[in-house]
Amino acid sequence: MRYAITNYNETERRRLEALAALLDPFTFQNLKQIGIRPAWRCLEIGAGLGTVSLWMAEQLGAQGDVVCTDLQTDFIADIEHPLIRVEMRDITQPQPELEQFDLAVVRAVHHHIPDRDAAARNLVGTVRPGGHILYVEPDLHSVFCDDHPAWRRLWQAFFQWGERRDIDYYTGRRVPAQLAAIGMDILSVRGETILFNGSEASKAARDLYRGTFDAVVPPLLDQGFLSKSDSEDAYALLDNPQVWLMGLCFFATHARKPLAYGAEQEELA
Ligand SMILES: C[S@@+](CC[C@H](N)C(=O)[O-])C[C@H]1O[C@@H](n2cnc3c(N)ncnc32)[C@H](O)[C@@H]1O
Repeated sequence: MRYAITNYNETERRRLEALAALLDPFTFQNLKQIGIRPAWRCLEIGAGLGTVSLWMAEQLGAQGDVVCTDLQTDFIADIEHPLIRVEMRDITQPQPELEQFDLAVVRAVHHHIPDRDAAARNLVGTVRPGGHILYVEPDLHSVFCDDHPAWRRLWQAFFQWGERRDIDYYTGRRVPAQLAAIGMDILSVRGETILFNGSEASKAARDLYRGTFDAVVPPLLDQGFLSKSDSEDAYALLDNPQVWLMGLCFFATHARKPLAYGAEQEELA
């Protein structure tokens, strides 16, 4: 299974730290709303640094467990927590557990996966009837209505770069219909968009976007998707404390597996 970012180095660690700093509060708020409870069995796919798995483990009390997984386990291999088990997993492959988890979480992973339908089915297969799924995935619409043309053009180039790699940057809005089509009940979908500027308070957003652009702007320039002047203007906007920029929107989709899931699927077959 290929993933667009294969450099699991310190630069990527800092980018993932920034992503976690931005998304953890929104993710935890959604998990609290689901009502994560002591002794639950939880699964995380594409855990990155594992901040969500660590938070979930802290909610479980003395029992329960968290299976913390990623295609590349470099950043989670060292996690030591009595309730966390780290494993290398590819969500495009059938998962070893069937209907065992109370909760499965995927954040900022699904849009990278070309066969998103297979990945969603594999994930749905892991939760018990009545169990919960939370997807938190990006949707680029917000950056396309930013006030600054160079910022919009950089994202347009980024979007085209993603399309060539089967990365769907509108995944956020598409997850609910995809899960509903495989029989899940959709309980809530809400988005969060960050507006940020060049000040210290917006450091996480700047670090995330700078880290992402540092990785993709050179090929965008080489391949003619982006002009040098737009790239320079967009970087300058990032550092300007007077300029407020639209970040990506992330949609959190909370789905629940119906209690009669197996029977319903048989009726449809
Ligand atoms: C952008 S990072 C997000 C990390 C973390 N979920 C977060 O939000 O902080 C995407 C992660 O998904 C993982 N990934 C990509 N394709 C995957 C797949 N097919 N199965 C499991 N993990 C995958 C990558 O290795 C990477 O760690």
